[in-house]
Amino acid sequence: MIKISPSILSADFAEMGKAVELMEKSGADYIHCDVMDGAFVPNISFGPGMIKAIKKHTSLPLDVHLMVDKPERYIDDFVNAGASIITIHAEATTHIQRVLQYIRAKGVKCGLVLNPATPVDYVKYCLDCVDMILLMSVNPGFGGQKFIPAVLPKVKEVSDMIAASGYDIELEIDGGINFENIGPVLKAGANVIVAGSTVFGHPDPAEAIRRLRG
Ligand code: DX5
Ligand code: ZN
Repeated sequence: MIKISPSILSADFAEMGKAVELMEKSGADYIHCDVMDGAFVPNISFGPGMIKAIKKHTSLPLDVHLMVDKPERYIDDFVNAGASIITIHAEATTHIQRVLQYIRAKGVKCGLVLNPATPVDYVKYCLDCVDMILLMSVNPGFGGQKFIPAVLPKVKEVSDMIAASGYDIELEIDGGINFENIGPVLKAGANVIVAGSTVFGHPDPAEAIRRLRG
């Protein structure tokens, strides 16, 4: 079953409450929250304060993507702010497995994120301790970038690894998803689709979500 997780990075920051309400009304499954620290990625977005603020405006699960160095420093803050899923980058911490387990122990779903050029090997050793794998199809840091097609076989590879493992793990893809490439991405095995500019850049975001679902 396909899930759509619109990224509020592309929404109007001054109207964030309304943006998440609209997403819920439009049939989104999650709200994707891109947290950027200006160190792991060049850009700075928002922190736990934003998560806490939008939580009041939606009952949808908040899918919090931490593009942050040493994310272990902030897990408690995002859990307390109301995150439902917290994903951390393999490249951002020395003790990935420890941080994933820490998130789970807090009663929040945890996920591992891989940059486009990061090998899939990490996944193999984390299958028993993740609820989600997030594959980046752009280099993280900005919305509105172009999808990197080399990630497609990687989606298939990870999808096969998950299927063979027997674990219940969601496979999310993030970056440059549009009406044209969503078909091949789903075919490769992704089931959670992040979309920022395709949804919020559309004159009718609800229509964009419907079109993404196909
Ligand atoms: C990139 C972010 C993405 C991004 C998605 O660093 O993690 O979630 O905002 O935006 P689009 O869909 O416009 O690429
Ligand atoms: Zn993201």
